[in-house]
Amino acid sequence: MARPRALCGHLYAHDLEIGLFLKDIWYFGAPGETLAPGAMIHKVLLGEPILIGRDEAGEPFALRDICPHRGVPLSAGKLYDAKSSGCGHTAVECPYHGWKFGTDGHCAEIPSLVPGQDIEVSRIRVRHYPVREVQGNIWIYIADDKRADLAPAGEPPLMPGFDADQRPNIREKMTFSCHIDHAVIGLMDPAHGPFVHRSWYWRTQKSIHEKAKAFAPAELGFAMVEHAPSSNSFAYKILGGAPRTEISFRLPGIRIERITAGRHRVTGLTCVTPVDEKTTEITQSFYWTMPLLTMLKPVLRPFMRAFLDQDRAMVDLQQEGLRFDPRLMLINDSDVQAKWYHRLKTEWQEAGEQGRPFENPVKPTTLRWRS
Ligand code: FES
Ligand SMILES: [Fe+2]
Repeated sequence: MARPRALCGHLYAHDLEIGLFLKDIWYFGAPGETLAPGAMIHKVLLGEPILIGRDEAGEPFALRDICPHRGVPLSAGKLYDAKSSGCGHTAVECPYHGWKFGTDGHCAEIPSLVPGQDIEVSRIRVRHYPVREVQGNIWIYIADDKRADLAPAGEPPLMPGFDADQRPNIREKMTFSCHIDHAVIGLMDPAHGPFVHRSWYWRTQKSIHEKAKAFAPAELGFAMVEHAPSSNSFAYKILGGAPRTEISFRLPGIRIERITAGRHRVTGLTCVTPVDEKTTEITQSFYWTMPLLTMLKPVLRPFMRAFLDQDRAMVDLQQEGLRFDPRLMLINDSDVQAKWYHRLKTEWQEAGEQGRPFENPVKPTTLRWRS
């Protein structure tokens, strides 16, 4: 990741040298509801093929989706429960030669072996990833060290004010044709709202006005500290009461927006997950305590999609320019959050390389912009 190069006090040219995916951190892997007990799905995360499965007891697990024998995706095979696997525990059977692997990645059986062919089967392993399922989200820890089953540093984020078994009330997923950095910067960018999301129900261009928001460092990132949201957004108005909102961002690409209005809470979780260098998944989930919103779900869903679609269309358009590898700019103050994102990534990377604790580079600041 290249450092921003100062041109003058307010303008930075920024070599967005993209390609770096952070390791040793939790990534959003899959919505829990997409995985029934006994099911497996294939995903690519950070350019790595990953099998995400759920055993008969409901526990999720993740393995590298490549059989160490001859490379066939294990997710194309069969998942046996402990009773029927023949090896005493849940096992994935490769469709090619039937090697079986436990959910911890250890090989449990090679059917072609005859007595006397004493290969130490359990020493054959497929990479295993630590997994957590909380609040309906399956998180996968991608360690830098492929060999070791290291204990994860830290835990995935929790939506404050909701129980661990609370599931999102609504969820939408979209795929953007860009690198994670462009997706993250695009979603945290405060200046694009009145242009990209211009519509009668959200913003009009006339509604642009000056804003000043206080920011502070937060876990693995920063937060726009709690405040009364802008009066120009209709969506906040339907919540009733005097709404307060807090928006936080944390590495690798997690945005949590908490809105409280009277005794009710609405929390939005946006997870930005890199599939590969040019593909990024955006999963937007909402948790709420308002029965009214649950009733409105059929109406809300198309709005949610339309909103994300506006961002996706802009990112697609941006790709047309990025093909020519232009230099890009990050200006004060509207792009300061993007600058922080780069600093946070660099710090995460350097702290990891130097084996020292992560030091949050963000300082409490008030940012001003018109939007
Ligand atoms: S390729 Fe998987 S068992 Fe041979
Ligand atoms: Fe947007």
